[in-house]
Amino acid sequence: MSELYSDKKILAPMVRACRTPLRVLCLMYGADLCYTEEIVDQKLIGATRTVNGCYRIGKYSIILYTEVLGTIDYCYGDEIILRLAPEEKGRCILQIGTNSGEKAAEVANGDDVAGIDVNMGCPKPFSIHCGMGAALLKETEKVKQILTSIKAVAIVPVSCKIRVLDNESDTLNLVREIEKCGVSAITVHGRRRDERQPDACRINEIREVARLITKIPVISNGFSAEINTFEDMEKWRSETETSSVMIARKALSTPSIFRKEGVLSKYKDIENFLELACKYDESYTMTKYVVQRMLGGDQEHDPRGRATVLSGSVLQICRAFGKDEVYENWKRERQRKQNKKRFRTDE
Ligand code: FNR
Repeated sequence: MSELYSDKKILAPMVRACRTPLRVLCLMYGADLCYTEEIVDQKLIGATRTVNGCYRIGKYSIILYTEVLGTIDYCYGDEIILRLAPEEKGRCILQIGTNSGEKAAEVANGDDVAGIDVNMGCPKPFSIHCGMGAALLKETEKVKQILTSIKAVAIVPVSCKIRVLDNESDTLNLVREIEKCGVSAITVHGRRRDERQPDACRINEIREVARLITKIPVISNGFSAEINTFEDMEKWRSETETSSVMIARKALSTPSIFRKEGVLSKYKDIENFLELACKYDESYTMTKYVVQRMLGGDQEHDPRGRATVLSGSVLQICRAFGKDEVYENWKRERQRKQNKKRFRTDE
């Protein structure tokens, strides 16, 4: 049984949200593992990987030193598609979107991350139309081809995340085939392809998978609406009889759900998130997205929320929460290290 996925509380993959600051924050609070947002294989294939080095980005030719940040960066054109922080070492799973065993295998050959996960649950048109995400749920042969191709080259554990199918026996047939591919874990989101958040999570169907698949950990997912305390995660793990639990929406609105000691106030969570967004030089759009998700209704009802909505930069968001000094300090620190490195390089 893979220890990596056993008895764990896990931050789920979330596009735009599960980037460096939120992942590191959840790990700091107590999550055992974090998933990246889904990254499409084609982007990873075309990306430049930089560790302890420098690269130019954007029309302004800003030189970014990964040594300064202590990160491993994957850069696709002007975009940093994956930035791995030292705090994540051994605890971060890269989730990929793919429709091809060949392409998936091309991105699965390193050990920057602790594991590789294949998204087989995304129901959004952009995934489905390309034969990725939930489109794979009905393509068992394709699923087998993708997973065995990755397994053939990967030096880290391989897993996948599915939704339940339209009838229970189809779900069980699929996970049986997936297990035979040699994966180290399966995550089951207890909703069907056409179901959305107000629809109840199919706890019984997750439990049936957990009863069938006993040689590898099954991770249950889909019950954020029922999670209000750290203890609730254990309750749902036990209800589903799975090895581990994975939390998405609740971890986005309240990352401190992973704290054994109890959740923090919304504003403390936002401040802690902003410190990491500043430290890891997160972009304005991604920072704003997460802060707005944490604010929820306070975007209209709280002056800090309204200031966030009107903001046009990370500095302005930080200012709304009294964190402008933190922003300036990290900026200065990066500059200082960058100058030091430039001086060393010039020598
Ligand atoms: C998601 N989800 C998702 N799933 C996935 O496999 N890869 C992804 O990149 C994303 N992206 C994503 C973004 C956002 C904003 C949300 C809210 C959700 C689905 C997610 O991982 C999870 O399966 C569902 O949200 C159900 O779990 P919760 O929210 O009940 O814990």
